[in-house]
Amino acid sequence: MPAERNGGTAMCPGSYDPVTFGHLDIIARVANVFDNVIVAVVNQPVRKQATVFSAEERVAFIEAEVSEHANVQVKPFDTLLVDFAREHGARAIVKGLRAISDFEYEFEMNQLNRKMAPDIESIYLMSAPQFSFLSSSGVKELAMFGGDIEGLVPDAVAVRLQEELKRERN
Ligand code: PNS
Repeated sequence: MPAERNGGTAMCPGSYDPVTFGHLDIIARVANVFDNVIVAVVNQPVRKQATVFSAEERVAFIEAEVSEHANVQVKPFDTLLVDFAREHGARAIVKGLRAISDFEYEFEMNQLNRKMAPDIESIYLMSAPQFSFLSSSGVKELAMFGGDIEGLVPDAVAVRLQEELKRERN
């Protein structure tokens, strides 16, 4: 008998510029535990650098990969994460943690989000070992210098990334 999911709604937020197989692994694992998962795609520049892909395209990339999970929805947001989580009745914010280097940033975000919404729990899943080195920025850097990004991001993302970076170079 398959295990029951009974965790309510979880939110998996991020910039996803672009989504990687590491993100998709976390989303699939969260979807196995929680009843509903909302993948929340930041539609505001939270970093100094502009995103390579628009929020609409980042959402579409993820939607194309999560269609087998009936309990996963993908939505852009441009408000405080905790407000967006409340709006959708999410009890938890779930993120992936790779190496120690992720900890400092995630710890800060955790404290800020907790201060604003102590009722919403942040939960961290350890990355699978094969994805522990994988980041969107690493993929973009490889692609920019002609490196092989096969197996790191979905094929459709790899094709669009090469196109965008070629356009930026010209
Ligand atoms: O790891 P990322 O992709 O930079 O994460 C983005 C996000 C929104 C999850 C992180 O910046 C966060 O937790 N921010 C909390 C503050 C907030 O709500 N910012 C508004 C974003 S629209």
